[in-house]
Amino acid sequence: MVKVVGCTVVAGAFWGDEGKGKVISYLALKDKVDVCVRTGSVNAAHTVHFKGRRYALHVVPSTFIYDSCRLLIGPGANVHVPQFLKEVEETGVEGRIGVDRQASIIEPHHSELDKSDGHLRSLGTTGWGVGPAVQERAKRSAKLAKDVAELKGFLADAVEEVNDAIDADKTVVLEGTQGLMLSLYHGSYPYVTSRDTSAAAICSESGVGPSRVDRILVVFKAFITRVGAGDLPGELSKEEAERRGWFETAAGTGRERRSAPFNFDLARRVAKIHGATEAAVTKLDILYPSCKNATDYDRLPQEARDFIAKVEEATGVRVTIVGTGPGALDIIDRRSSS
Ligand code: IMP
Ligand code: MG
Repeated sequence: MVKVVGCTVVAGAFWGDEGKGKVISYLALKDKVDVCVRTGSVNAAHTVHFKGRRYALHVVPSTFIYDSCRLLIGPGANVHVPQFLKEVEETGVEGRIGVDRQASIIEPHHSELDKSDGHLRSLGTTGWGVGPAVQERAKRSAKLAKDVAELKGFLADAVEEVNDAIDADKTVVLEGTQGLMLSLYHGSYPYVTSRDTSAAAICSESGVGPSRVDRILVVFKAFITRVGAGDLPGELSKEEAERRGWFETAAGTGRERRSAPFNFDLARRVAKIHGATEAAVTKLDILYPSCKNATDYDRLPQEARDFIAKVEEATGVRVTIVGTGPGALDIIDRRSSS
């Protein structure tokens, strides 16, 4: 296979929890990703299964499993310092992770407010304090990473580093968090998160201009889930979700996820707004159990291939990555075939 170089944005399609962590961890190993910038904040948990361990990462980029990857937290991100230090320790990445000086900081009072404010409660926020921290940043009174003593040894100019890597034709991933339907601008307002989650915003939070990006990989799950309040078209009862094997609990908060079948109309709109150049579909094995751990597309049952074809028709882009199990390598990679 030809080495994939250049800059890829990985963005979530619907209400998050599509398996971005898994897809990104696969890219890390397969493409030998040189630099990864994580955007967003601690409200998102990206799950990575590797060597028999499961990591639910709220801060550290999902490419950490590739030892040579430089890990960066972008200037648009919001850093929860204790969680950052805890994950750095758990993943053993001290020495190769950097936090942009301009990233802002979530403080304990932000989380307290997130949990006590009636309006925020009614939206079903995660309670990490991200909304109140973003508010503080918009007010221009937030602390930045450069103001925090515990981050001193981690400070970096992530923008300079990532742009230098792109100039040098290195392999770069910009790691998005949440999904487009949780975007402050494009999602199901007011039941959304406190930032834009589109591919354009992922670039902006990383300090990478849109013209420098080569690929926008939008990650879909084979069915839809949502945590927190707000409409979910086609929502199933918990019993039906359990019967279908779609019932999930959140990697970060442990909350029950609501679920619904894949929505092709919404997929069309999501692909348009993200400017998708390709798509991933995860958990195909949950819809079609005989796909479990498959790595060869041609051996999938016809109905599974028909489903993928329908996703391609709706989004107008090729489904290049198909997830068939939880492990980082349970993937069908169609990038080298046409
Ligand atoms: P907040 O982002 O904590 O303010 O929560 C706002 C809404 O976004 C709530 O419905 C959360 O459940 C949802 N949300 C935030 N982050 C994630 C995520 O990573 N996955 C799924 N839902 C999320
Ligand atoms: Mg998640």
